[in-house]
Amino acid sequence: MAKRNIVITGGAGFIGSHVVRLFVNKYPEYNIINLDKLTYAGNLANLKDIEDKPNYKFVKMDICDFEAFYQLMQDEKIDGIIHLAAESHVDRSIKDPFTFAKTNVMGTLSLLQAAKLYWESQPEPYKMVHNYQQSSEPEFIEGNSDSCHIDRLSDQSVDCRFYHISTDEVYGALKMNHPEGIEPPFKTVASSEGHKAYGDEFFYETTKYNPHSPYSASKASSDHFVRAYHDTYGMPTIVTNCSNNYGPYQFPEKLIPLFINNIRHRKPLPVYGKGENVRDWLYVEDHARAIDIIFHNGKIAETYNIGGFNEWKNIDLIKVMIKTVDRILGNPEGHSLDLITYVTDRLGHDARYAIDSTKLQQELGWEPSLQFEEGIEKTVRWYLDNQEWMDNITSGEYEKYYEEMYHSNGKLKTEN
Ligand code: NAD
Ligand code: TYD
Repeated sequence: MAKRNIVITGGAGFIGSHVVRLFVNKYPEYNIINLDKLTYAGNLANLKDIEDKPNYKFVKMDICDFEAFYQLMQDEKIDGIIHLAAESHVDRSIKDPFTFAKTNVMGTLSLLQAAKLYWESQPEPYKMVHNYQQSSEPEFIEGNSDSCHIDRLSDQSVDCRFYHISTDEVYGALKMNHPEGIEPPFKTVASSEGHKAYGDEFFYETTKYNPHSPYSASKASSDHFVRAYHDTYGMPTIVTNCSNNYGPYQFPEKLIPLFINNIRHRKPLPVYGKGENVRDWLYVEDHARAIDIIFHNGKIAETYNIGGFNEWKNIDLIKVMIKTVDRILGNPEGHSLDLITYVTDRLGHDARYAIDSTKLQQELGWEPSLQFEEGIEKTVRWYLDNQEWMDNITSGEYEKYYEEMYHSNGKLKTEN
């Protein structure tokens, strides 16, 4: 296995910490650098179990700091970037869109430009896609200029790549033309037992971007910049768009950890609107496994959708969480249903997300490994067993945020 020097941005966050853990444990010969600004969402406690490994290093840095990142590229001879750092919460983006544009758009651009300058300055093996040694059968990348037509490297080449992690939210919202649910066209290991589809359409890699929230607009913009760096400069880039993740270490502003914690503490469960919106849920370690496969074997300039065909209406998912937490805590069935509190809907709340990840399964052989009911059980148990982790986060600044978000703006006002 070749030695590699890889930066994972946002490694102290939810998904990033699972990616860092996977890479550090699986590739002892790689140098893994976790670059993170440690915003409210970054937490080094997520990585306690691997922080002393010799192939792991943490660097506190803002992805918007171009000079510092360019220096890091040179000092560490970086040949791979897995970019997860972002502002990631839709509700925060509605309150403060500027921070999202700055981090998600300008931050990504800053990384791209630093990587471009560094990789272009290197001798032959590091050069950009159009300068790489031509393989005997050049591959043409659909839709790109002929200067970018070679994406195979010689054995001696260092396969540098910029892998950008994005979301299905950039595609916009799908119609819910089957609100009662229909037999889905596909199932995977991750699909829930009674899995249904709530519409005929899915997000494909070819679906036109149509973001609605400031969060998804900023992610869409960053995706466009990444692809532009490939098409214009020959940057070896890959973009993936994943559905909603769940699992350990997720910041408790997001639906699943927030609700598990609230159920435990008998606090109201603020369900936006009627709770009818549909999300497609994937266990976070399955996303991390997909990132590993795509980073190593994905084709330059390609887009891959990641998801497990596992659609849920929010209210149904919330009832599963209530049932699971009550059972584990020894409460009678239905004990916490009274906590459900319908509140003012999120502005511009997307109706339905549903990812088609057939391409990834067929081309790279990725399959999710965990069935949804098992994943939820594991996740609920993890949050209940790790109350200290939760308490460290839900004190101080987070309490202020929660107060502001759910009380001052009237969100906790019961609607129905
Ligand atoms: P998160 O909010 O839990 O973590 C984000 C991390 O980025 C934090 O550690 C934070 O400190 C860091 N960060 C933020 N701004 C930074 C900056 N300016 N410089 C350096 N570091 C900074 O997010 P997440 O849920 O783990 O999402 C990670 C990525 O995956 C994001 O790009 C997100 O858009 C994407 N994604 C998330 C989901 C999901 O369900 N959570 C689904 C698909 C895609
Ligand atoms: P979230 O976890 O914020 O992810 P995203 O908005 O990126 O999909 O929300 C998941 C769904 O849960 C979404 O439809 C909004 C809804 N939701 C609530 O009903 N109440 C809440 O308090 C939160 C945080 C989310």
